[in-house]
Amino acid sequence: MKPPVPIVTIDGPSSSGKGTISRIVAARVGWHLLDSGALYRLVALGAALRNFDPDDVEQHVSVARTMKVQFGSVGDGQEQVLLEGQDVTRKIRTEEAGAGASRVAVWPAVRAALTDRQRAFAQPPGLVADGRDMGTVIFPDAQLKVFLTASAEERAQRRHKQLIEKGSAASLAALSREIAERDQRDMSRQVAPLKPAPDAHLLDSTGLSIEAVVERVLSLGRERGLWPKA
Ligand code: C5P
Repeated sequence: MKPPVPIVTIDGPSSSGKGTISRIVAARVGWHLLDSGALYRLVALGAALRNFDPDDVEQHVSVARTMKVQFGSVGDGQEQVLLEGQDVTRKIRTEEAGAGASRVAVWPAVRAALTDRQRAFAQPPGLVADGRDMGTVIFPDAQLKVFLTASAEERAQRRHKQLIEKGSAASLAALSREIAERDQRDMSRQVAPLKPAPDAHLLDSTGLSIEAVVERVLSLGRERGLWPKA
C-alpha cells in the first residue's frame, strides 16, 4: 500500500551529498524534510549533555523517547536545531557528534525508539526523507527511493571543503579515515545496515554538480507524477 502522503527517500553513505540534495529538493517542491541523521546526532549529544554513560543503551533510549527537538530556520533560511530549547545547530554538525551518532545508531532499541518520531514527519503535501534506512525500514512504501553515492575520495574532499568553510581545522587524511570507519560501521551493523532498497534508484554523484544531482532527482519525481512538469 502506498503511503497517503507522498514520500521520497534519499539514502546513502556519509558525505554523499544527501543532506544538501534533500534540502534543495524539498524546498523546490515545497515538501517537508526529515534529516534522520540529525536525530541520531541529537540522541548522542543529548545523552552527553546529561552526563549519561556512553555505553548505557537504556539511558540513550530514554533520550530518544523524551528529547524535545525543534527543527527550524532563521534569517536567510539557515537551519536551526534546538534540543530542550538550547541551540545545538553547530554542535550536532561536528565530526565528534557524527561519530557519536554512528555509535548509538547500532543499538536496535535506540532505532526502534526513533521510528515513530521519524514517521510523524510524513505530512502533506509530502516528505523528503534523508538517511541510511529511509527506503529500507522507515518508509518501505515510498513512491521514490534514491540511493546516493560518491567515491570515498570525493566524499572526504567535500567534507574537508565544508569544514574549512566553517572555519574548522581538518586534515584530509584523518577525514578519509573517519569516513571509511563510519561507512564500515553503518554497513556492517545488524539492524538496518546501510544498503540500497531493492527498488532504489542508484545515483552516483562523483564528478556531478549539486544542481545536476538535484535535477536528476526532480526528473525522477516528475516521471512518477510526484510533482508538476515545470
Ligand atoms: O547523516 P548523518 O551523517 O547526519 O548521520 C550520522 C550517523 O547517524 C550515521 O553515520 C549513521 O550511523 C546514523 N544514521 C542511521 N540511520 C539514519 C540516519 C543516520 O543509522 N537513518
